[in-house]
Amino acid sequence: MGSDPLTSRCTVAKKKTISDLTDLQGKKVLIRVDFNVPLDKQSGDITNDRRIRAALPTIQFLLDKGAAVIAMSHLGRPKGDPIADKNLKMDKVAARFGELLDRPVKKSSDEVIGPEARAAALALKPGEVLLLENLRFDAREQKNDPDFAHAIAALGDVYVNDAFGTCHNDKDASMVAVPASMKGKPRVLGFLVAKELEVIDGIMGNPKRPLLAVMGGAKVSDKVKFINALLAKVDHLLIGGKIAFAFLKAKGVDVGATRVADEELAAARPLLDRVDRQITLPVDCLCAKSDDLNATRVVEGPIPAGFEGVDIGAKTVAHYANKIRTSATVIWNGPVGWFEKPAFAKGTQGIAEAMATSGAITVVGGGETAEAVEEFGYDSRMTHVSTGGGAFLAYVEGKKFASLAQIDE
Ligand code: 3PG
Ligand code: MG
Repeated sequence: MGSDPLTSRCTVAKKKTISDLTDLQGKKVLIRVDFNVPLDKQSGDITNDRRIRAALPTIQFLLDKGAAVIAMSHLGRPKGDPIADKNLKMDKVAARFGELLDRPVKKSSDEVIGPEARAAALALKPGEVLLLENLRFDAREQKNDPDFAHAIAALGDVYVNDAFGTCHNDKDASMVAVPASMKGKPRVLGFLVAKELEVIDGIMGNPKRPLLAVMGGAKVSDKVKFINALLAKVDHLLIGGKIAFAFLKAKGVDVGATRVADEELAAARPLLDRVDRQITLPVDCLCAKSDDLNATRVVEGPIPAGFEGVDIGAKTVAHYANKIRTSATVIWNGPVGWFEKPAFAKGTQGIAEAMATSGAITVVGGGETAEAVEEFGYDSRMTHVSTGGGAFLAYVEGKKFASLAQIDE
């Protein structure tokens, strides 16, 4: 297990940021933000605006310097069907963005980059803000399409990347082909990306040990690749959430009605020889009857038929909390239970509390995890709460991002 010298990481120190721009007066600044906020499934209302708030210092700085700001983001994963995708229009995001910024935000409503967007961008005056329509409404966005990128690039004099949550997407035109097409114009990082990179570089470059990771959430197969890379860096890994049940089932423990897909089992199996050495699994769990979630019980060992695992149990919380307290650095991604239901949130709250009250350097990543920490009121007591999910995991792992390669040094 070698430590990763800080110098070998991407190091934001080399990259230009908006602070390096000397003359922004009257400039059109094209800024990629990650306003991919969680939405209520029925109403489409924004359930958490953390990602919008996180970009405000950059936007405010640009406006204060006399720039006109053209912001762009994706929202969700549109299917290409206007009815199914109606909640993914940027109108509510634009409204919330305007409220938080305390000034009107214009929004173009035709195609992402068409005559209306172009006219709105052209007419934009210093101090004004325009938000483009959901970038993913145009299929060319996720194909890194050069013509699409070129058309967007033409709107700006300066390119700013302040979309940390999307920095790992190396086929998104707005992240890679747009800045590539603006070569020769300033292409810099915003404050949010700069801070995320700096903090994660600082912690992962030469981590204070013991370095502990806590992993939860669903999507076992997605996370296994990350777990492999993580095991090379961390001293210990605690597992909770849905992925814990994949490991338990792979070990031969009966998980009752808990759904574990075949590919999740297959993903967990090769890691079993690390269990009890470098990986710790829950010793007890809260389970609920699948047809009556109010019927719960805590079990150690097999889960009874008809019940599914919904949270880690109190013994596991105590054990994990103790591990957290005796570590020097703790990184956490993924809730350890179905925390949206208050009755199943104790495990996630317990992990958050143990981290917030420990003396360790604490870093939280992942949309849901960050929201949980915020809802429990512990966000200000963590060393860093990342706005990234997949990007956070990939950057902790030490991946190089094509998006960052486009930023001036
Ligand atoms: C995220 O929430 O992970 C980012 O906004 C990127 O979105 P994506 O996972 O749909 O690419
Ligand atoms: Mg993602």
